[in-house]
Amino acid sequence: CTVREKPEQKAYSIVGRYQQLKEHNPDAIIGITGCVAQQRGEELLARMPTLDFVLGPGMIHHLPEVLRDMEGGRKGICAVGFENGCPAHLPVPHTPRLRAYVTIMQGCDNFCSYCIVPSVRGRERSRPSSEILAEIDALVRRGTKEVILLGQNVNSYAKHNPGELTFPRLLAKIDEIPGLERVRFTTSHPKDLTKELIEAFGTLEHLCEHFHLPFQAGSNAVLERMNRGYTREQYLTQIRRLREVAPQISITADVMVGFPGEVDDDFRQTLELVQEVEFDGLFSFKYSPRQGTRSAQWQDDCAPEVKQQRLAALQELQRETTLKKNKRLEGTVQEVLVEGSSRNSPRMMMGRTGCNRIVNFSGGTARVGELVMVKIDDGLQNSLRGELRR
Ligand code: 5AD
Ligand code: SF4
Repeated sequence: CTVREKPEQKAYSIVGRYQQLKEHNPDAIIGITGCVAQQRGEELLARMPTLDFVLGPGMIHHLPEVLRDMEGGRKGICAVGFENGCPAHLPVPHTPRLRAYVTIMQGCDNFCSYCIVPSVRGRERSRPSSEILAEIDALVRRGTKEVILLGQNVNSYAKHNPGELTFPRLLAKIDEIPGLERVRFTTSHPKDLTKELIEAFGTLEHLCEHFHLPFQAGSNAVLERMNRGYTREQYLTQIRRLREVAPQISITADVMVGFPGEVDDDFRQTLELVQEVEFDGLFSFKYSPRQGTRSAQWQDDCAPEVKQQRLAALQELQRETTLKKNKRLEGTVQEVLVEGSSRNSPRMMMGRTGCNRIVNFSGGTARVGELVMVKIDDGLQNSLRGELRR
């Protein structure tokens, strides 16, 4: 993933390590795929003579042909284009999985000024709903109980596919698949969050009460420079509406500190927003310039120590909030999807609530994949502990 920091270095050192494989086995094939491949392309082949191929995320479905070509003696293949539409259906793994990820769209049209995604993942493309529904149906038949729908911006699903279902309608169809217990999705953009989608939380039986809605910054001046297309006030209104429809909804978000020009007062507004919303989880990042983005042309003027202090302040505030919210659940009974035995204590079992909190529980055995009711006794920093209710 090339969204943050410098993953290229990691890619180079991994290829360096795999080089030894070729010394033992001259037929070994080494390739790089994903966003670093997209970003650097041919440059990677020039820099690493042992590398055999480079495939961008829009070309990954050509892997079988690439491997055949390599066996035929071709070397140095580099494919980093984007074809129209989403790549045809990738093979679904054969091992049954309780929780499965299903890509519904790829790419992004938003061009937030700091973000490399539109250039490494291309423009928005959505898969046909018939294909998505068939894939989920096949997964459920093999034992999947929970699906997580993936896309850079799932709210604008099928924006370029006339006559296709909207995202809330797609959710409604998925909700009807027999045997599927839970549906989640990520990621959403606040500017594309519609009333219809918010209302889905009040009507769809299997839609988990969990929403990941990145806000990135609490100051309107910074949001504007980020090209996010909403204000702090509009974001807070979206949160209020979600909570009106689903009062228990768990809300998580992404936020950045140290964006070019972010002064103390901007950061104070970010902290205040976090305090006001009381997120159930927060992913906070230090801004880093990414090549080719608009903000990379601006001076990265926030000192590393200031970025670090701001990150630490946010994380501390969030730790307190998470613990407070977990404690509030003490005494309640939660529906838990059982995943297996608990990591720390083999006599306990582990599962997750609809809000995605980890629950370790005792009081008898439950089958993996079963939905059980658990009375919560302890709200801890990173998990809940409780007892099975039969
Ligand atoms: N620097 C730091 N964080 C970034 N993100 C995206 N681009 C950058 C960047 N240049 C963060 C955003 C996004 C998450 C996936 O990564 O918060 O939501
Ligand atoms: Fe990047 Fe998300 Fe903005 Fe798209 S919406 S440009 S993926 S931050």
